Amino acid sequence: MIKANYPVDKFSGIETPFYYYDLNVLRSTLEEINAQTKKNNFHVHYAMKANVNPAVLETIKNAGLGADCVSGGEVEAALKAGIPASKVVFAGVGKADWEINLGLENDIFCFNVESIPELEVINELAAAKGKVANVALRINPNVDAHTHHYITTGTSENKFGINMEALDQVVDLVLTLQNVKLIGIHFHIGSQITDMTAFHNLCVRVNELQEQFIKKGVELSNINVGGGLGINYEHPNHFAIPEFEAYFKTFRDHLQLRPNQTLHFELGRAVVAQCGSLISKVLYVKEGTVKKFAILDAGFTELIRPALYQAYHRIENLTSDLPEEEYDVVGPICESSDTFAKNYWMNGTKRGDLIALRSAGAYGEIMASQYNLRKLPKAYTSDELTGK
Ligand code: LLP
Repeated sequence: MIKANYPVDKFSGIETPFYYYDLNVLRSTLEEINAQTKKNNFHVHYAMKANVNPAVLETIKNAGLGADCVSGGEVEAALKAGIPASKVVFAGVGKADWEINLGLENDIFCFNVESIPELEVINELAAAKGKVANVALRINPNVDAHTHHYITTGTSENKFGINMEALDQVVDLVLTLQNVKLIGIHFHIGSQITDMTAFHNLCVRVNELQEQFIKKGVELSNINVGGGLGINYEHPNHFAIPEFEAYFKTFRDHLQLRPNQTLHFELGRAVVAQCGSLISKVLYVKEGTVKKFAILDAGFTELIRPALYQAYHRIENLTSDLPEEEYDVVGPICESSDTFAKNYWMNGTKRGDLIALRSAGAYGEIMASQYNLRKLPKAYTSDELTGK
């Protein structure tokens, strides 16, 4: 028995667990992003932190997206994938000197700056190279994204960005520095946001802030509203493509761009989540006293989101059409948090069945670890297993 979109016959010779990327889903997603953004000249920088699988990156580069990086390693990976430096933005609260130098040497488009000391260091390092670095100030807009507290970033109580109270001081400073050029402002309010009200609130805040900058006589050519658009983890088959239309419309309708201003986005999850699945094999089905456990050969070492954020991933048995039964679906790691789902209904399951953990293209493979001395998972694409 083979379920749609999974070349299960091709999976049989592959060692599990592994990641499987359906590049057709990714290509359709990218087409939709381009269709929604081209008319307004919106620029999307793919948030590299979500997934840097080479085939995935290549597909994203071919669609013309830029890159949003948060480490020197990501800047290197973006450039190596062929994403032009002129489309690379570099964020992060703790950029090391070598990482800043790497950005300077490659003339990346912009550093998203998160504090006064960072601004001073970028100015110093740029001066040493006789360069002027483009910077955008990351402002903490104090907008609640109503998402999991681990992935909320835009309220005043966390380490990201410059608080609005400190903004005047930072702007005054930046204007005195010779080797940095203020080209914009940057925001990011959180991740897995499905209620457009949060983005609407962000637009309102950005509009207010723009007034403040104009009053100070500062012209900004770029507004970067970060990422955060969520996806549908419950129904990946019905909603494979995220709500890009509603998302971009929110900004089109509510953000007041000035003439010659460009709007930038840093989407990660919405680009890649639905194209990826973690494929695992059932090692054992264990009958407890009140429960049945389906014990997989994948654990939180391959997909940490359920353990870390209590995240839901749809689980499908790809090789069974038996009536559904209730399972706790768990991994082999020696920690109780190594549980993918409790009291989960799926087709009757036995040793050797193949299981797909869905919507795992974002923050899946990239967050894998070797805890318990496990091997890092390999990844395969639909192109290589089935041809385009
Ligand atoms: N820009 C900035 C400044 C960010 O901090 C992030 C994500 C993004 C863009 C991309 O956000 P996205 O469009 O993917 O929501 N590991 C967590 C998610 C962490 C997100 C961190 N920042 C998870 O698995 O849910």
